[in-house]
Amino acid sequence: MRFPKRHILVIVAVASGLVMILMSGLLFMSLSGPRAPACTFYCISAVIAGVLFGISCARLTASPIEDLRREFVANVSHELRTPITSIKGFIETLLDGAKDNPEDAERFLQIIARQSDRLSAITEDLLTLSRLENDAETSGIPMTQIKMLGVLQDALQVCETNALKRNVKLELRCGEHLAGKLNAPLIEQAIVNLVNNAVNHSPEGSIVFVESRKDKGKPVIHVRDNGTGIAPEHLPRLFERFYRADKARSRSIGGTGLGLAIVKHIVQLHRGKVHVESEPGKGSVFSIYLPK
Ligand SMILES: Nc1ncnc2c1ncn2[C@@H]1O[C@H](COP(=O)(O)OP(=O)(O)OP(=O)(O)O)[C@@H](O)[C@H]1O
Ligand SMILES: [Mg+2]
Repeated sequence: MRFPKRHILVIVAVASGLVMILMSGLLFMSLSGPRAPACTFYCISAVIAGVLFGISCARLTASPIEDLRREFVANVSHELRTPITSIKGFIETLLDGAKDNPEDAERFLQIIARQSDRLSAITEDLLTLSRLENDAETSGIPMTQIKMLGVLQDALQVCETNALKRNVKLELRCGEHLAGKLNAPLIEQAIVNLVNNAVNHSPEGSIVFVESRKDKGKPVIHVRDNGTGIAPEHLPRLFERFYRADKARSRSIGGTGLGLAIVKHIVQLHRGKVHVESEPGKGSVFSIYLPK
């Protein structure tokens, strides 16, 4: 059986507090007798117990939000450091003489351009997330009753170039009259993120399906692929910022690891739910459930 971390901290805090009291008592008693070695032992034990007590209490009072904030800042720094280091390195190489060789200069400048694109993608996604969080805390977002077909067609149009490049076909199944109450640009962005993921993880010649219908009177959108799929251990963390199931592949595609976090925020702003079902080697289905 595994104890939750917080329970262990409470046990350590209480136990070390008790040891501290006991040792201080014994120390006080031995001070009045001829037992100098015991006095040192009690003294050291009381100090160790005191330190343990302090650490446990500090960890217990630290807020989970503060932990999340710290983890987020660490992740952002890590994500930004990679392209910055690369840009800096190649600029130095160029200045050290590589600029005089046209072939090397061209290759290094291409790398610098790619890494700059990456930096701008990360900052743009972070700004989107921050705007969405702001909207959630303040006014919310404007929503209108709108036909789903148009929103989905616009989203697929954005993904067309990527799909063509990877030789993946996009297929849309949506009734002409199906409507939902939503913020069209945001839902379009969520669908673009899901479809691009589906395309990026699908084999050449396959089809990505985008389907929308009503389920118990509420609109549902499914994005289905027959691609690599995702192992079950990754599913619970998939919508976290910067979480990637396949780090190497995501980086080689140029992903920031923020796409699904943005999807989750958009769906939450609509008071809806996003769900994923996936099987390695078979493919994935991402579903957005809207409330109206
Ligand atoms: N349809 C899919 N099939 C297989 N793996 C997927 C699929 N969708 C997402 N993933 C996995 O989930 C991870 C997180 O996706 P997410 O969209 O957040 O980031 P990304 O695609 O790497 O970068 P970007 O921010 O540019 O979208 C991906 O890196 C990939 O490992
Ligand atoms: Mg993505």
